[in-house]
Amino acid sequence: MTSFNCYILSIILLCYNVDSANILGLFPHTGKSHHMVIEPFLKRLAERGHNLTVASFFPMQDPPPNVHDISFQGIYELRLESIDLNEFENENILYKVPIIGRVAKQILPLQPFATAAAKICERLTDFQALTDALKGDYDLVLVENFMSDCVLGLHYAYGIKAPLLGLVSGPRMPWTMERVGAVDNPSHVPIVTSPFTSHMCFKDRLENTLASIAFHEWHHREIQMKERKILEKKFGNIPDLRDLGRNMSMIFLNTFHVFSGAMPLVPGLVEVGGMHLSSKPKPIPQYMERFLNESEHGVVLFSFGSHLRTSTLPEYKEQIFINALSKLKQRVIWKYEGSEEQGTRFGNILRVKWLPQYELLQHKKVIAFISHGGMLGMTEAVAAGKPTVVVPFFADQHLNAAAAVEAGFATVLSYADLTEESLTRALQAVLSKEMVAKTRQVSQMWHDRQSSPLDTAVFYAERTIRWGHNAKLYSKGRDLSFYQLALIDVAVTILIAVVVFLALFTYLIVKVLNLIIKVKRSKVKVN
Ligand SMILES: *[C@@H]1O[C@H](CO)[C@@H](O)[C@H](O)[C@H]1NC(C)=O
Ligand SMILES: *[C@@H]1O[C@H](CO)[C@@H](O)[C@H](O)[C@H]1NC(C)=O
Ligand SMILES: *[C@@H]1O[C@H](CO)[C@@H](O)[C@H](O)[C@H]1NC(C)=O
Repeated sequence: MTSFNCYILSIILLCYNVDSANILGLFPHTGKSHHMVIEPFLKRLAERGHNLTVASFFPMQDPPPNVHDISFQGIYELRLESIDLNEFENENILYKVPIIGRVAKQILPLQPFATAAAKICERLTDFQALTDALKGDYDLVLVENFMSDCVLGLHYAYGIKAPLLGLVSGPRMPWTMERVGAVDNPSHVPIVTSPFTSHMCFKDRLENTLASIAFHEWHHREIQMKERKILEKKFGNIPDLRDLGRNMSMIFLNTFHVFSGAMPLVPGLVEVGGMHLSSKPKPIPQYMERFLNESEHGVVLFSFGSHLRTSTLPEYKEQIFINALSKLKQRVIWKYEGSEEQGTRFGNILRVKWLPQYELLQHKKVIAFISHGGMLGMTEAVAAGKPTVVVPFFADQHLNAAAAVEAGFATVLSYADLTEESLTRALQAVLSKEMVAKTRQVSQMWHDRQSSPLDTAVFYAERTIRWGHNAKLYSKGRDLSFYQLALIDVAVTILIAVVVFLALFTYLIVKVLNLIIKVKRSKVKVN
């Protein structure tokens, strides 16, 4: 190629590239796992030369010069190994009521999110470093689409013109899809806290619909309305946060249909499940590697993630795990806080404080996984192709478990009804040749995409910078009210028309019959 051609080519490439956009990220959620999904995306945007200002509870370690962190640390306590497993021992008896109780079980435990959202929003409105940053000039604003919508109010209050890109760190929330006008029909789209797949019987659809309505109402009343009040105290009139939510240009979902199931999408709703797997590999500690190397029949990895404190397992439950796991010919690595520096070993089990989960799952000696069903762990399991026993607890874990079972790479166990026998059976199932083969296939399908999830995310982020609000990637559905969307007005009109027509028709038939009878009678009389 001549140098002139090269020159032309590089100019064309430059035109299609967005060079150094100013990007603002607002992430006031305290869950570390959420930020673990978002951070690799931020890092990649920084590598591409964009200027990032990121406000979160998890400042980047050694940020490059074009990343400007604003730390929320200290505003509110973090959600890390904060959940005591004893909470799951004595379940509220209300939860045993059919349908209604099961709906309550999905919604009531979420109340701490509402408390946190209000407290954090209150602090954000006069957080100097943040309010200074909000006065900047941006090309794109990244926000998390989870419980709190406080930052949507701030985006509005500071008159930021830059388009909004929402990131969902797990499956969609009940209010995610409507923000871009995608169909969120509870007949076949299970809500995030449910244990359903897209196949639902009548009872399931009833529960899913009621839970969807209840979750929406709870979110609007307990979070959006309270945050709006807080924002209005400081900034005057702020629109309904539901309407501000419907002003997003693009939303990323941390799902991919191979695992989470197919659902209706619109161009503005893009699946980037697996985006977090591109972060730099962490080294496997020597003592763990030796334990793996020396295993003859492979290793089962056991981790309940970063929220649940495994050391609070009630003793009888812990004994169930120990008994079932000790019987395996495989070895076990178990994440258990309070273990010794080099792990605590007994029999075939090695308990460790912390583990590089994805790196271990990718290790050829690791042949199965025991998980609580968190989005990150399940994503890592399907990506690494390791069959999984899922013991779900709350939030999206039941949904992820059901999806993984349907996809074919997992078996689900009820924590409440856990026994040594059920756990042993589940382990045998995931270690079986059939499940191993099926999981390998699902994993290959998971990786088979047009571009990697992180590249997809970066492409769409830059496309949003290029076209912003003009791209119109939402369906008109997002501007319709519920009755219009569900065609209730049309259905009622059709119903009335049919009833009126039938009534008229019946009336006419009766009239004609009467006439015929009269004529016949008069003929008889004449005769
Ligand atoms: C990058 O962002 C920082 C912090 O918001 C800002 O002070 C700086 O002016 C920005 N740089 C460019 C080149 O826009
Ligand atoms: C939604 O975004 C458009 C485009 O920037 C803006 O003009 C409009 O004011 C926004 N609406 C609300 C309610 O914020
Ligand atoms: C484990 O085995 C691998 C490959 O055989 C080797 O490179 C590594 O050094 C071993 N690690 C330990 C700690 O024994």
